[in-house]
Amino acid sequence: MKNLVRLFLTALVCVQCTPSNKTIPEKSHGLITEKAMVVSARNEASKIGVEIMKQGGNAFDAMIATDLALLVSYPSAGNIGGGGFMVYRQNNGAIGALDYREKAPSAATKNMYLDAQGTVNSDKSQIGALAVGVPGTIAGLFEVYEKFGTLPFEKLIAPAIELAEKGVVVTEKQAQNLNKHTDNFKDANRRTILLDKVWKKGDTIKYPKLTQTLKRIQIHGRDEFYKGETAGYIVDYVQKLGGILSKEDLAAYEVKWRDPITFEYKNHKIISMPPPSSGGICMAQILKSIEPYNIDQYAHNSTPYMQVIVEAERRAYADRSYFLGDPDFVTIPTDSLTSITYLAKRMANFDWKKATQSSELSRGAIPGYESNETTHYSIVDQFGNSVAVTTTLNSSYGSKVYVEKGGFFLNNEMDDFSAKPGTPNVYGLIGAEANAIAPQKRMLSSMSPTIVENNGQLKMVLGSPGGSTIITSVIQNILNVLEYDMTMQEAVSAPRFHHQWLPDSIKVETSFDTLNFPSLKRLGYNIDQSNSPIIGKVDAILVLPDGTLEGGADPRGDDSAVGF
Ligand code: DON
Repeated sequence: MKNLVRLFLTALVCVQCTPSNKTIPEKSHGLITEKAMVVSARNEASKIGVEIMKQGGNAFDAMIATDLALLVSYPSAGNIGGGGFMVYRQNNGAIGALDYREKAPSAATKNMYLDAQGTVNSDKSQIGALAVGVPGTIAGLFEVYEKFGTLPFEKLIAPAIELAEKGVVVTEKQAQNLNKHTDNFKDANRRTILLDKVWKKGDTIKYPKLTQTLKRIQIHGRDEFYKGETAGYIVDYVQKLGGILSKEDLAAYEVKWRDPITFEYKNHKIISMPPPSSGGICMAQILKSIEPYNIDQYAHNSTPYMQVIVEAERRAYADRSYFLGDPDFVTIPTDSLTSITYLAKRMANFDWKKATQSSELSRGAIPGYESNETTHYSIVDQFGNSVAVTTTLNSSYGSKVYVEKGGFFLNNEMDDFSAKPGTPNVYGLIGAEANAIAPQKRMLSSMSPTIVENNGQLKMVLGSPGGSTIITSVIQNILNVLEYDMTMQEAVSAPRFHHQWLPDSIKVETSFDTLNFPSLKRLGYNIDQSNSPIIGKVDAILVLPDGTLEGGADPRGDDSAVGF
């Protein structure tokens, strides 16, 4: 069966290979290198990160350079106006997680997106200045630098400055994406340079204002963004457009080091992001729920395979909506939610002959509980350190507010809060009190930068964009490798599906094989193929048995693996 899966994938896979002297018969593999690798959404950014490691920098230095290069080359998600999460594993096995997620401004209120009738006005939480949360990216990068950086910071930011100054060549996919958002840019701004023309492949975008911003950060450091000239540009522009972000909010922003969520799945240790991400807890719930079913006895993406996974996902996302939020504001019963006894109880009413109806399922009972366009890159360095980073403005180009004098977009992360219990956000996710808006609170996320260990050794680094589908995309990639023996590239390229409790349907990619749909429908599953041409965009690195690295760069985007 595994060979059949491989043959099928070999036909599908778009291999982003540079020549390799390794021959792996029958396998369709990605780039293989000996020592170090970056896999990110743009070739420019992957190259810049690798160049830093060639100069002797470590994975953390490479993270800073890659991140800033994505800001310039992939402005729909790469950012300094947004936030993100980083999970790391050092070569001595030490692990950690950094939370540089956006926070609600101090003037935010629980009902700020409700109209007089109490209806959510999602335009306000999604587009324009009121949607903007306090950005965390620059604080995150400087925190990483202070703890782990080795090369001079000026060197790490220099390639992004050069890229912004000389310009970035627009790809086909980027041109389509920019042109699609023209009206949104007009709605949210008085002006942005990205409105200047209809973009086409091969055009070059130069960022003169952003070049200056990066140069100021190069000279003055973190405070330039949070207290300096750039802070002034951000606050003046946001307030002119009717937003509530203040100078005090920027000055008060702080990152948080957090303990990663760790759990075992079939002799592998999974290390992922804790709250305010829902990623680690949901992944633990889903993978621990399916572990007893020995999923590899079923064909990949077959009806029984999808049934087990969908039912585990349905239950985990129902819990997500009720229990999860910012851990600095709400108590999260992590141990109970991820215990084997609890999860076995949750799966007890799974029926092979009939889909569970989401309408008949809600959160589980936890005794004693009282209360509530993103981009991912993976890096492994020549010293054996690894980082997984997912960073976002939330939607493509965030709030579409482009700080004119600073030359960058601001996030619309406020939409990740639950504006009203039971009303879905842009990803159809429903939340409750735990994720209600409050001043200085972090909004719940699905971003799941993840590292997998086997026998105490690094095995895989991965993550994805895709809002609510991030968690299930990461899980499917882990299963593809651990249970179906796929190469990293095959795992990344394989068609994906997703279920999130509500809406009660299995979302599938347009490339997904329709063969099993009749049997799934007979069992009571709804299939939604309508608006998901792609689900997630996974960039991953697999450590092969001989210690070399295989990159999986997602062919759904312009993603690229580079290494040495
Ligand atoms: O934090 C979250 O879960 C969302 N703001 C992520 C948004 C996202 O992945 C958009 N990408 N396609």
